[in-house]
Order: sequence, then structure tokens, then C-alpha cells
Amino acid sequence: MDLNSRYPALSDLRTRAQQRIPKFVWEYLDSGTGDEATRRRNRTALNRVGLLPSILHGEFETDLSTNLLGQQRALPFGIAPVGMSGLMWPDAERNLAQGAARLNLPYTLSTVAAASPEDVAPVLGKDAWFQMYPPRDEGIRKDMLDRARAAGFKTLVLTVDVPVASRRERQTRSGITNPPRLTPRLMAQIAMRPAWAMAMARKGMPHMRMLDAYATAATKNLPVTAHVGYLLRTSPDWDYVSWLRDAWDGPFVVKGVMRGTDAERLEGLGVDAIWVSNHAGRQFDAAPATIEVLPAVRRATRLPIIFDSGIEGGLDILRAMASGADFIMLGRAWHYALAALGPDGIDHLTHILSEDLKANMGQLGARALQDLPKPFLHS
Ligand SMILES: Cc1cc2nc3c(=O)[nH]c(=O)nc-3n(C[C@H](O)[C@H](O)[C@H](O)COP(=O)(O)O)c2cc1C
Repeated sequence: MDLNSRYPALSDLRTRAQQRIPKFVWEYLDSGTGDEATRRRNRTALNRVGLLPSILHGEFETDLSTNLLGQQRALPFGIAPVGMSGLMWPDAERNLAQGAARLNLPYTLSTVAAASPEDVAPVLGKDAWFQMYPPRDEGIRKDMLDRARAAGFKTLVLTVDVPVASRRERQTRSGITNPPRLTPRLMAQIAMRPAWAMAMARKGMPHMRMLDAYATAATKNLPVTAHVGYLLRTSPDWDYVSWLRDAWDGPFVVKGVMRGTDAERLEGLGVDAIWVSNHAGRQFDAAPATIEVLPAVRRATRLPIIFDSGIEGGLDILRAMASGADFIMLGRAWHYALAALGPDGIDHLTHILSEDLKANMGQLGARALQDLPKPFLHS
């Protein structure tokens, strides 16, 4: 099958993914919170960012490489942490870690993934990041860091934009229950997706494997898509960030930053990079689009800025980099790709993003990512 003609864009992978996974899984992966205004705003605000074409540059090769956290990287994007990836497609975490190693991309494993750090350790590449939802208990906190380090994770990411649970009404409407029950409604949704059902039957239903070690009676009966974090974790504060900074000897990134003043303060605490994110509109439905706040965060800090939420192609990556981002992460896109095509989807999505970057850099006369013009806003 010629993937390029059948699935030329991420939207094609998304459509195919929806046909292959049960409705409740789709709703977990695809939905935002509230009326999904922030989720939509991420898209419309990216569309408003214009870049002026530039002509008569002759023939040239485009260079997609960039430097982040002291490493030269062939491509300016990577894989954001997603809880319960393995629910979207069996073995997703392993596939993503393997794909990232093969393609030299950073892969971020979530605390609430369906694979533990130990599960993915054998297939991790050199650029493995561990994302922490902050446990309240200091012993658990230390243990998680030790396990991540021992498994080969070099970069630590603390997510700070989930101070409380968000409501995710669309997810609730799909019929996910708490505690988890395979109700007739969910069974009917699963029955309509035989490839997913067969694969899951072979693997068993996924759960948050890292947290098995800390399971108590209270955490055992959580729904597959819930953050066990809500029981184990705390809402972190500035002292928590300092504690982690001291406890982790590698690069340390704080994810979910939307204000310049916060970025500035984090820089003062010795954080190595700022990750601008609104969690793809899954947390707070009055949040601005990340592309709207990016210029102010850029002005506030000299730290590298990692950016996500709503990126759908190479052109979006250029829009964000022209607006001040140093590196781009994608969350849902990799899962649409995996659910659509299995592990080949990871390579195909990388191909789509790279080709789209090159085509649009050609229009801008930009040989390298550092040559992008300043963006302007369409009214
Ligand atoms: C299904 C799903 C689960 C997620 N789980 C986590 C998580 O466990 N930890 C985290 O820091 N972010 C999580 N995120 C947010 C992503 O890391 C990332 O910020 C977001 O998906 C980026 O937007 P995009 O999906 O439009 O690329 C999740 C996102 C989705 C869609």
C-alpha cells in the first residue's frame, strides 16, 4: 500500500484511527474539557499565524536539525507523554519508544502510561524522557526517580497543569464508569472494533503499570483512563520544583507553563527548559491557545522553550518556531498514527511532518530553522 497517497496528512490518519478504536477509547484520546473551546482555539490561533513567502532563492537543501538541551537533533519534534497509550493500541508505549529510538526522536513516558519504565527500558533510545505526576509521598517520589534513572531515562519532566482533575465531559458521556466495568454499552463499542478487540484480548486490558508498586486498596479500582495520580499525587508548589531540581541530576523540564512570569521564576530555580502547553485543551476551557502566549513566554526567559497543543503538521511546527519555540512535541498525533497503521504509523507520521516542513521552508526561502521570518497575524 502506498501510504503517501492514501494518508498524505495527519487528518487521514485521524480518520482511520477513529474507524479502528472503540468509541470510549476515541473519546479519551480525542476530547478536551468543557465545550472544547480551548481545544478549538489552539487550532484557530495557529491558523491565524502567517509567514511571508520569500522568492528567488535558487535551489537549496533544507536542514531540519536543531539543538535542544545541549544535543544536536536531526528533527525539531518529539513524542509528548500520554497516559494509557496502550489503551489506544496494544503495546503503544513499547512501539513509541522503539520508533523514537529508530528515528532519533525524544520519547516521553508518562507516570500513568500502560507500561512501566522497566517495561520499556530494553527498547529505549538515547533520548528518553520521564514525565512525572508529582506523588505526595516523598518515598514514592524518590523511588519513581530511581526507577526512571535505572531504566535509562535522562530527562525529567514535571507536569504542573493538572493541579486538580478536569471534568472531560465528552469522555464521561462515552460510558466510561468508575470503578471500571465492562458494561453492555462498552462491550457493544468494543464489538464494533474487532482488530482492536482481538489485539487487546491477546495482551489483556492495559493499566497503569508503574503504579502497581504503590497500589493500595484505594487505587485498585480506578477506571482505565483515570489518573491514579489523583490519589497518589499532590498539587505541586514552587518548593516541590526546587526539591525535584536538587533530586534529579539530568535535564529538568517543567510542562504546562502559560505565563512569562512563571517561566522567569522557573529559570531562577534552575530548570533547564520550559514546556509551553495547555494539555491540548484537556484541563481548562478558558485557557488561551498556546501559540497566543508563546511570544510573551519567549520574551520572559532565555531558557529553551518546548511547545505543544494542537500541532497538526510541519507548517504548524514552523509557525511555533517562528513565534519563539525551540522544539515541538505532539501527543495525540502519534496515537492517531499508531491506531491507524500500527508501528509503521510512527515512521509515516515522521515522514509527513518532515516533508511538510521542507515544502513550507521552500516557500519561505528558509534553508534552516533559524532562518524563519517573523510571523504576522491574519485579522
Ligand atoms: C489521551 C491523552 C493523555 C495525556 N496524558 C498526559 C500525561 O499523562 N501526562 C502529561 O504530562 N500530559 C498528558 N497529555 C498531554 C500531552 O502530553 C500533550 O501536552 C498534548 O497532547 C499536546 O497536544 P496535542 O495532542 O494536540 O499534540 C495527554 C494528552 C492526551 C491527548
